[in-house]
Amino acid sequence: MMITDHLRSIVGDIGCITDPDQLAPHLLDQREKYRGKTSILVRPANTAEVAAVVQLCADTRVPIVPQSGNTSMVGGSVPNDSGDAIILSLSRLTTIREVDAANYSLCAEAGCVLADLQAAAADAERLLPLSLAAEGSCLIGGNISTNAGGTNVLRYGMAREQVLGLEVVLPNGQIWDGLRALRKDNTGYDLKQLFIGAEGTLGIITAAMLKLSPIPRSTCTAWLAVSDPEAALTLLTCAREASGDTVTAFELEARRCVDFVLRNIPGTMDPLTQHYDWYVLVELTSPASNAELDTVMETILETAMADGLVLDGTIAASEAQARALWALRENVSEAQRPEGGSIKHDVSVPVSRMPEFLRRATALTEETIPAARPVPFGHAGDGNIHFNVTQPEGANKVEFLTRWEELNAVIHDLVMEMGGSFSAEHGIGQLKREALVHYRQPVEIEMMRAIKAALDPHGLMNPGKVI
Ligand code: FAD
Ligand code: MLT
Ligand code: ZN
Repeated sequence: MMITDHLRSIVGDIGCITDPDQLAPHLLDQREKYRGKTSILVRPANTAEVAAVVQLCADTRVPIVPQSGNTSMVGGSVPNDSGDAIILSLSRLTTIREVDAANYSLCAEAGCVLADLQAAAADAERLLPLSLAAEGSCLIGGNISTNAGGTNVLRYGMAREQVLGLEVVLPNGQIWDGLRALRKDNTGYDLKQLFIGAEGTLGIITAAMLKLSPIPRSTCTAWLAVSDPEAALTLLTCAREASGDTVTAFELEARRCVDFVLRNIPGTMDPLTQHYDWYVLVELTSPASNAELDTVMETILETAMADGLVLDGTIAASEAQARALWALRENVSEAQRPEGGSIKHDVSVPVSRMPEFLRRATALTEETIPAARPVPFGHAGDGNIHFNVTQPEGANKVEFLTRWEELNAVIHDLVMEMGGSFSAEHGIGQLKREALVHYRQPVEIEMMRAIKAALDPHGLMNPGKVI
């Protein structure tokens, strides 16, 4: 029997896609940088089917590319162009197995859409704090496999901090049930950590026990113009102190980001009449219903304006207004597309050095590719900047993109010199494999290779990614 027939016998016709037109969207990464090949995508219906597929692939030495929402920024979720691998999609594992409000936990299968889990938590008057612009299409298994960051990291940490337990199908097809709902469990190595952020190279996450938080009952969102990133940094400290550390989001963007959004995303509006060089979106939240965060924000603003930190701003007076302010941030990624080629850097530095990084990275970009347009934005509250660089106006896109590695090297060298990371939240995938070996210490690479060899001795799990 051909492997395809074997796979079909496990997942049925409904769980197999072999039609080239239906396969096509699963073969192209969302940045349209990598186009892979496969003859089959399987969509198991449950953990047992995932395990049977993985065991068959282990026995027949067929590589597997796990795929969730395919929103990876680093080409992690698409196969290479050899056509050897199958894609294993988790999209049919959509059961929420349990919501335990008193334990502040939720157990969900890997194929649940992040936004649906946020809603399920909210129905139980709890918060699942993981939040990112792709939340309507990314799946929780993908989020955990990339250790996703997003806009609430300052307050709640990355995906890793929201995971209490995991269920994983190991590369030999064994099922590991590690779905414990405990805050404390010092019984040997914390094995779940191996799979969080492993980008599908060590096993397949089929379910997760997630940690919930108290639901915010007061929220205040403001859009503030600041003169420069130094002012933004000082404002961050003031806002954290003055608000009793209720700053949940602190997102920075340069004026060019706003211009791109207003030009390319229908329905968006500049809430301020004048143009400024830099903006921050600040959100305060509190589980207390009487936190009076609007008053807190107004006080912060008055002081910040008197000190010259904030030049102008607006506080959302309704949920609709808050959503409109968020649209100016969440669409920055999408708004870069129509502007031509974009060379990406997803970097982090210590928060205190973020202004220095922005100054030096901008100068280095000007030296390297004069007239290229830096589009810096991101999660400044946690030190993560998306230092993306759009092609000069009217330039040839293909030609501009040939400078990708050269500019990456310049910016990544700077980041490393500043004690930062060349991949703050998007991971390694296919895009940053060489950078990983270049920038991480040899002893770290050795440990990673040892772990990979121990769990996946035949190298079948997402080959060509990470390590
Ligand atoms: P996929 O892209 O399908 O997969 C990601 C990786 O995990 C791949 O290597 C894949 O093989 C592996 N994988 C997937 N599912 C499993 C599984 N069940 N078991 C094992 N391995 C698996 N990322 C951030 O961190 N912060 C952001 O703010 C952010 N904003 C974004 C905004 C936009 C508009 C877009 C398009 C992307 C953004 N991303 C962000 C990147 C992306 O959304 C995240 O990396 C997300 O966590 C990936 O989830 P996914 O379901 O799409 O996974
Ligand atoms: C975001 O924060 O919007 C994404 O992670 C950024 C990106 O497009 O690089
Ligand atoms: Zn981001």
